[in-house]
Amino acid sequence: MTILKLLLLLSFLFPAMVDCLVRHYNFRVVLTNTTKLCSTKPIVTVNGHFPGPTLYAREDDNVIVRVTNHVAYNLTIHWHGIRQLQTGWADGPAYVTQCPIQPGKNFVYNFTLTGQRGTLLWHAHISWLRATVHGAIVILPKKSLPYPFPKPHREKIIILGEWWKADVEAVVNQATQAGMPPNVSDAHTINGFPGPFPNCSSQGYTLHVKSGKTYLLRIVNAALNDELFFKIAGHNLTVVEADAAYTKPFETDTIFVSPGQTTNAILKANQPIGKYLIVISPFMDAPIGFDNSTSSSTLRYKLDYNTTTPSNLETTTILTTIPPQNATPITKTFMDSLKSLNSIQYPTKVPLIVDHSLLFTIGVGLNPCDTCASGFKLVGNINNVSFVMPSIALLEAHYHNIKGIFTDDFPVKPPVAFNYTGTSPANIQTMNGTRLYRLSYNSSVQIVLQGTAVIAPESHPTHLHGFNFYVIGSGLGNFDPVEDPKWFNLVDPVERNTIGVPTAGWTAIRFRADNPGIWFLHCHLEVHTTWGLKMAFIVDNGFGPNESLPPPPNDLPQC
Ligand code: C2O
Repeated sequence: MTILKLLLLLSFLFPAMVDCLVRHYNFRVVLTNTTKLCSTKPIVTVNGHFPGPTLYAREDDNVIVRVTNHVAYNLTIHWHGIRQLQTGWADGPAYVTQCPIQPGKNFVYNFTLTGQRGTLLWHAHISWLRATVHGAIVILPKKSLPYPFPKPHREKIIILGEWWKADVEAVVNQATQAGMPPNVSDAHTINGFPGPFPNCSSQGYTLHVKSGKTYLLRIVNAALNDELFFKIAGHNLTVVEADAAYTKPFETDTIFVSPGQTTNAILKANQPIGKYLIVISPFMDAPIGFDNSTSSSTLRYKLDYNTTTPSNLETTTILTTIPPQNATPITKTFMDSLKSLNSIQYPTKVPLIVDHSLLFTIGVGLNPCDTCASGFKLVGNINNVSFVMPSIALLEAHYHNIKGIFTDDFPVKPPVAFNYTGTSPANIQTMNGTRLYRLSYNSSVQIVLQGTAVIAPESHPTHLHGFNFYVIGSGLGNFDPVEDPKWFNLVDPVERNTIGVPTAGWTAIRFRADNPGIWFLHCHLEVHTTWGLKMAFIVDNGFGPNESLPPPPNDLPQC
């Protein structure tokens, strides 16, 4: 009998005895036709599903995912938001922690879920493949621990996405060659369905509920480039968790979720039996082209045969208003309402002393480009450095001490101070480089992410791998290092792995570098990542094996 079978048997016979399990998953990356999308063009999926399979596990479980690449693209999978404590080799961003899995090859991701519970997502982390290669991660609390809110009757996963009629890899390659913004998507999707769409008879997703019951909605924004509003006609939602960290519950009629973010909210089926519209619509408060399409699905109450339901409730769908596309106040109210639970069981531990205080300007610029028709290309940058991807994985270069792949001189602040949110400076060209910022083990870090208005101000949902951070402050205009810290929330700030930096504004985050390895930080709008709006931290080993990055797994792909 294998150890796994023995564990399964033991957990069945004596559930209290075995608390953590080993969860095995097989991810076969394949080309698939899906009837959900009105297209005959095959898409890249995991196991033929769009969205891909949900990875279910419990806190403390060991997750083992064998990924086999059956498509013609190089590929990696990232477990977005998983802390990867001492398992940095399993994080997944291509050329950061590993070389890609080549066509026909496989790699086993092996990690343990420590200190987290809630909803996260997994997605391809190379080029634009994550458009269709993504799915939810559900981390249930330990068996002995209840949720810090009343147990819902059922749980439902709701994955929001973005769909191009054309092949996404062709879309991004064409744009990169031209140095121009890529074509915007053709529709937003809810659990893979674009909803009513011209010339498309796709049914759309239906959320079935029973009157009087409560449902935990696990909402994931897996879109590439669009921040989204989520609303259900006639129903308020109670937010209880964001990015796999519990929050103080608050009620809202609109959820705001940026690419890479997740939100758990409780839905009470407390309205008259009938059909209610669920809508998702994009948020954009900058003068930038985007996919302005609204998508919808339906919330449907099961008919109650004990009472007579007026028949019109079965045929009419109750509608809702759609937030204006530039509804900045709605996004601000939503983000300001998010506070960490900060209970005895789930305390908030904001570092109060800061070892590294960093100011990162984030935005776009324009660099010369010989092969581009205009002679220029759009680039993204942090502190005026456009990140250049290396040809082998940074983590390997770090572990084996291979010189010449990266430098550890990433600037602590922008090279020149200017009115970041005012008119663009005369020179908007950036430097290129594979420059990292070095942190000693367990040091505390504060980053003020300062959006710039160079070319155009824009909102940037910024994601940090390997850590959760606390969002201690945020504001419009330029960060004021004297006045703004007076208002920092060091008591119950929300804990996340992805945070929107408001258009022409700033956001301050803090975290403790307690995870040795190389950790990517980037804008989670794929268009900006592609342009170079990214950098990475090296976190050195501490003392002894418990504070060190172990050797790479034997099957780590080679470049
Ligand atoms: Cu969800 Cu580096 O990404």
